[in-house]
Amino acid sequence: MNLRLLSIAFVVLVIISLSGCKLTQHEQSLFEEMGGHSTITKLTENFVDEISRNQEIFKYFARSDVVRFKQKFSEHICMLSGGPCKYTGDNMVDVHTGMNINEHDFNLGVELLINAMNRSDIPHTTQNKILATLVPHRQDIIYLE
Ligand code: HEM
Repeated sequence: MNLRLLSIAFVVLVIISLSGCKLTQHEQSLFEEMGGHSTITKLTENFVDEISRNQEIFKYFARSDVVRFKQKFSEHICMLSGGPCKYTGDNMVDVHTGMNINEHDFNLGVELLINAMNRSDIPHTTQNKILATLVPHRQDIIYLE
């Protein structure tokens, strides 16, 4: 009997401690994992620098307002990574319509983003998660005449 009571008490204790864990555990967002606002600012600066050094991609940005792009791009990455930001830019289809970005240039853009993430010391596992948030937008960006 005592043994039975003891095992019930043990099971109850395990359940309480497990549910306690669940309550106190804080799930880290991708925004936190990448290092928050300061990493996003670094990433954005490096990305703009990568764009400015690549003629094939820079031609799309020749008439863009770089200050606006930096602000909207940062907000977009912040929002997609679960950070405390509201994206105030235009939607992806409206922004990229008329550019007729082909597969090659889209991939090149992603390559420049990867260079920028490397230069911002973002670990590869985190880079993959960031890229995964961008993948669903691919269809909103390419071949929009
Ligand atoms: C996953 C890929 C991409 C994402 C998430 C993305 C996101 C964005 C965002 C958030 C903006 C700012 C919008 C605003 O100003 O309201 C923007 C602007 C722009 N994007 Fe993209 N973009 C992507 C790929 C590309 C590629 C591959 C190109 C060109 C090859 C491109 C060309 C541009 C240009 C030229 C602008 C500035 C438009 C302007 O000045 O009005 N984007 N993009």
